[in-house]
Amino acid sequence: MAPLSHLILLSLVLTLAPTPSKPEPLKLTLFRTPSLPHHSDSLLLASLFRGRRHPGLSVPVVSGAPFGSGQYFAHLRVGSPPQTLTLVTDTGSDLIWLKCSPCRNCSHHKPNSAFFFRHSASFSLVHCYSSACSLLPPPPHSHCNHTRLHSPCRYKYTYGDSSVSEGFFSTETATMNTSSGREAQVPGIAFGCGFEASGPSLSGPSFSGAVGVLGLGRGAVSFASQAGRSTFSYCLADYTDAPPLSSYLLLGPHEPTKPMSFTPIITNPLAPTFYYVAIEKVSVQGRSLEIEPSVWAVDSEGNGGTVIDSGTTLSFLVEPAYRKILAAFEERVGKKERVPKVQSFDLCVNASGEVKLPTLKLGLKGGAVMAPPPSNYFLEVEPGVKCLAIQSVPRADGFSILGNLFQQGFLFVFDNERSRLGFSQTGCAS
Ligand SMILES: *[C@@H]1O[C@H](CO)[C@@H](O)[C@H](O)[C@H]1NC(C)=O
Ligand SMILES: *[C@@H]1O[C@H](CO)[C@@H](O)[C@H](O)[C@H]1NC(C)=O
Ligand SMILES: *[C@@H]1O[C@H](CO)[C@@H](O)[C@H](O)[C@H]1NC(C)=O
Ligand SMILES: *[C@@H]1O[C@H](CO)[C@@H](O)[C@H](O)[C@H]1NC(C)=O
Repeated sequence: MAPLSHLILLSLVLTLAPTPSKPEPLKLTLFRTPSLPHHSDSLLLASLFRGRRHPGLSVPVVSGAPFGSGQYFAHLRVGSPPQTLTLVTDTGSDLIWLKCSPCRNCSHHKPNSAFFFRHSASFSLVHCYSSACSLLPPPPHSHCNHTRLHSPCRYKYTYGDSSVSEGFFSTETATMNTSSGREAQVPGIAFGCGFEASGPSLSGPSFSGAVGVLGLGRGAVSFASQAGRSTFSYCLADYTDAPPLSSYLLLGPHEPTKPMSFTPIITNPLAPTFYYVAIEKVSVQGRSLEIEPSVWAVDSEGNGGTVIDSGTTLSFLVEPAYRKILAAFEERVGKKERVPKVQSFDLCVNASGEVKLPTLKLGLKGGAVMAPPPSNYFLEVEPGVKCLAIQSVPRADGFSILGNLFQQGFLFVFDNERSRLGFSQTGCAS
């Protein structure tokens, strides 16, 4: 594993703890807000996007590591003529939004520094009377003056670390490649044209190189929902690959060429954005740990559970499970290999020589087993020092997150039609 550049390190530091007094993980996960019930979403969506059936579509995805970001970037072509924009791929939120620039003559602006909506013939604002506006969560996350139906539909979207994006809900045409290599245009994609972004997730190094977020959650406004595909898949390439390996976000049915394991996607009615999976068993270096099943469950208040989130770098586990897993790792790492803690990582080892790191396996509902290599949960934080890249969820009412590092090298298929997550540990090269 190549050493991390100090830029990545910086982003991870910020990703972990924006200020010492506020130890919440920084992540692009939707702040849990009451959003529209799932079913009315789908109904609205069905009428809005009826008849949109195309072959599979692809969007290139690369690691943001060369920019010092712990995120994965999608290159989406938006507008007419298309402008290629770099967006953070985020299965932990729904909204697609782009930083918008009102420049009239943008020739002195850097390309891909914002979306120049005045240069696009297909841009239009969503108004309050439009049914698209009602896809947004209720105020304060959207704002319409209902006595003035022609006023623009405003959005305000808040992420888990209280980062906020605000602006005007709008529609545009996206251009993508079909699986046969032809270009396809998908008109009428509703997105946030952002004029304000604040907070560590949206302004810190993790965001450098990106000009927006591609929400892939389960809600009606997400990119996956709007593209009219009930299934999408991606494979996040190892961020240390040099040169960086480009892979694809594929929208549409996945024809498996390799054997896949499946686990049900669980719905939490109180957080309908998220793709939850159920962890049932955990083992460290082949020894299974005793963790009460209730530790992993979503409770009656909608707290707990485990979310697959491409917009968060590290993984976070609820406290009781984390303590046992950490203890098991500590037991398996030789005393002479341990080095003092670095930043907020609880377990660090001297990896300058040959060191065999303990392995972690997750047994999921339905019998699927996820056994990623140690590089998915040990991070080289300083040259020759690797730390366990799993941390505890800082809040008692929080939920567990399997972040993008943990997902590296797996092909994931989000099959919403059959409510299941497929995965295969094949690497991203094919
Ligand atoms: C836009 O600005 C550039 C440089 O400032 C100038 O050369 C060009 O003529 C302008 N184009 C229009 C359409 O005004
Ligand atoms: C809504 O628009 C009406 C008419 O323009 C105006 O009188 C009213 O103050 C507005 N309400 C809000 C909450 O902005
Ligand atoms: C789309 O397909 C064309 C032709 O196969 C290819 O040249 C181009 O790089 C592809 N673009 C993307 C963004 O995948
Ligand atoms: C790691 O071990 C090597 C020798 O095996 C030693 O030279 C080096 O100083 C150690 N690094 C740390 C951070 O302890």
